[in-house]
Amino acid sequence: MVKKSYPEVKEEYKKAVQRCKRKLRGLIAEKHCAPIVLRLAWHSAGTFDKKTKTGGPFGTIRLPQELADDANKGLDIAVRLLEPIKDLFPILSYADFYQLAGVVAVEITGGPEIPFHPGRLDKVEPPPEGRLPQATKGVDHLREVFGRMGLNDKDIVALSGGHTLGRCHKERSGFEGPWTQDPLIFDNSYFKELLSGEKQGLLQLPTDKALLEDPIFRPLVERYAADEDAFFEEYTKAHLKLSELGFADKE
Ligand code: HEM
Repeated sequence: MVKKSYPEVKEEYKKAVQRCKRKLRGLIAEKHCAPIVLRLAWHSAGTFDKKTKTGGPFGTIRLPQELADDANKGLDIAVRLLEPIKDLFPILSYADFYQLAGVVAVEITGGPEIPFHPGRLDKVEPPPEGRLPQATKGVDHLREVFGRMGLNDKDIVALSGGHTLGRCHKERSGFEGPWTQDPLIFDNSYFKELLSGEKQGLLQLPTDKALLEDPIFRPLVERYAADEDAFFEEYTKAHLKLSELGFADKE
């Protein structure tokens, strides 16, 4: 576990975070855009490389070069939707703003409250293309990609539960359909559906199904399907780690 030493931020900045959080709750509830906002926060953070300390949740995802990454298809919509709120808070970094939006997306759809520490600074350099996981691959690929970020097996399974929200869009990823019956509710149904097998109208990606084949991943899937509190607890830890990759690390 990487030890953290959070930067001091001014009172004015802390107040802006609180006010921005309220505005985000309103917008995300009104537009039903929690899924794409969570995907934006995750794709922003998930490019981190712990060795070179490049990529990560530092606001670069709004830049045309990063949005043009194949894995980010459709995320220009999320950037655009959030921009009117960002305009109200010029003091906030995009880095903090997108991670705050991800935390709000989980909270307002019924998920756990994830702690948020402000103070990320925006980077100017987008990460190289191709750092996010590919849905057509298997467990070795998942371990490689999440391992590069500095995340472990438990993080992989807990975070995969983020697919309790939202859906795939043919024109964005080539896949189509939601993972669960209520794609605007954050609960443990992703794991229940995964165990119950493919059903009419619901989708499982090759990377989702791969979780069932692995002797370490499968028991975690079973645990989260049976115990939502355990899922929420471990999801919270993993999401917090994801949202702080490369941020406030104690050297
Ligand atoms: C484990 C590796 C992962 C793979 C291969 C993967 C793949 C995908 C794919 C293919 C889509 C569909 C995009 C579209 O067509 O609109 C998607 C959507 C989504 N992903 Fe993931 N994902 C992964 C992990 C995660 C994680 C860690 C989270 C969050 C914690 C997450 C949250 C979401 C959400 C919320 C959506 C729905 C977006 C919407 O409805 O517009 N995913 N993912």
